[in-house]
Amino acid sequence: MSVQQNAKKILVTGGAGYIGSHTCLLLLEAGFDVVVVDNLSNSSLESLRRVEKLTEKFIRFYKVDVTDQKALNAVFVDHEFEAVVHFAGLKAVGESSQIPLTYYEQNVHGSVTLIKVMQAHNLKRIVFSSSATVYGDPASVPIKEDFPTSATNPYGRTKLFVEEILRDQAVADNEWQIVLLRYFNPVGAHISGQIGEHPQGIPNNLMPYISQVAVGQREFLSVFGNDYSTPDGTGVRDYIHVVDLSDAHVKAIQKIASFAGVTTLNLGTGNGYSVLDMVKAFEQGSGKNVPYKLVERRPGDIAECWADPSYAGVILGWEAKKGLDEMIEDTWRWQSNNPNGFNK
Ligand code: NAD
Ligand code: UD1
Repeated sequence: MSVQQNAKKILVTGGAGYIGSHTCLLLLEAGFDVVVVDNLSNSSLESLRRVEKLTEKFIRFYKVDVTDQKALNAVFVDHEFEAVVHFAGLKAVGESSQIPLTYYEQNVHGSVTLIKVMQAHNLKRIVFSSSATVYGDPASVPIKEDFPTSATNPYGRTKLFVEEILRDQAVADNEWQIVLLRYFNPVGAHISGQIGEHPQGIPNNLMPYISQVAVGQREFLSVFGNDYSTPDGTGVRDYIHVVDLSDAHVKAIQKIASFAGVTTLNLGTGNGYSVLDMVKAFEQGSGKNVPYKLVERRPGDIAECWADPSYAGVILGWEAKKGLDEMIEDTWRWQSNNPNGFNK
């Protein structure tokens, strides 16, 4: 396994997680050296071991919590970074209403701690994982970056707060170069079937739930509402392949030195699919039945959410390339090869 000599070094927080592990893989393939800090609260080191096998490149790993300023500082003493990609944080919307303080501690305090350590080491380039949740219930679709923002739950508020904190930092010190990436609905897995999403417990999100039904781990999907004002009455979302999403991070890192202040970008495909579209497509792609039952709406859900991703095209020269078929084929390959995720 090789370490790349003279390669630019990127710190990836939360790099052992779902989107982080895919981004580490693409960063290594693009010739960057990668250092990961992760507390492994929602991931396994096995994901990074697999990334190392796939790329035949080495990842330096630190089991560090981003709220731990001393430990984080020690990582910055060991390495000189070109930029940081900041994924570390908690992401379960429902849970965030039950334990809001934990969400503010991990997501907001964790980000402030990271920004402080970066500033102390004169590193002022960061790509931050934000979410389409910051658009609240949008007045129309497709959603553009200048739409009003709001939050309906503590998780969403942590994303909004961190965006604002980074904006304040860019005003206070105009050397900061900040990219806020607002993800729509990340799905899929690497084509190797070696890394993918492995939610702990009962999945909250549609795609992992459908794939667990298809693999026989769950009996049926509950479809949350069929009385929305959408073509078939079920919720419409912009599902984006995790490899396309990760590719946008690599492009952001490659260009960040030429940006000034804060750049905010939507990462979606610009296509909306309903819950029932997803069920049908998954049945076709996997050859399995996905039984479902229509149930009440999930509180807080919105009818439609899909992106206008054209600004990311202009700024990064990026667009999502993978369609729904690939999202499903790759999810299915990952799920059927690894029914227990990274736990063998
Ligand atoms: P994930 O849970 O798989 O990855 C997050 C990683 O961060 C995990 O490996 C976890 O162990 C680690 N982590 C959590 N708290 C930490 C802490 N305090 N210190 C160090 N490490 C910590 O989630 P993901 O889907 O890969 O999401 C990555 C980022 O993207 C998150 O910030 C999430 O909020 C954001 N995001 C995700 C989605 C999505 O649907 N997956 C959508 C929009 C935004
Ligand atoms: C989720 C997050 C949101 C985040 C967004 C993008 C929740 C509650 N919200 O929302 O904060 O910004 O992803 O990453 O987690 N559905 C079912 N049955 C299920 C699961 C989902 O019918 O078992 C439906 C939902 O009602 C929705 C669609 O499937 O219409 C997608 O749901 P989900 O995958 O949870 O994503 P979002 O609701 O977009």
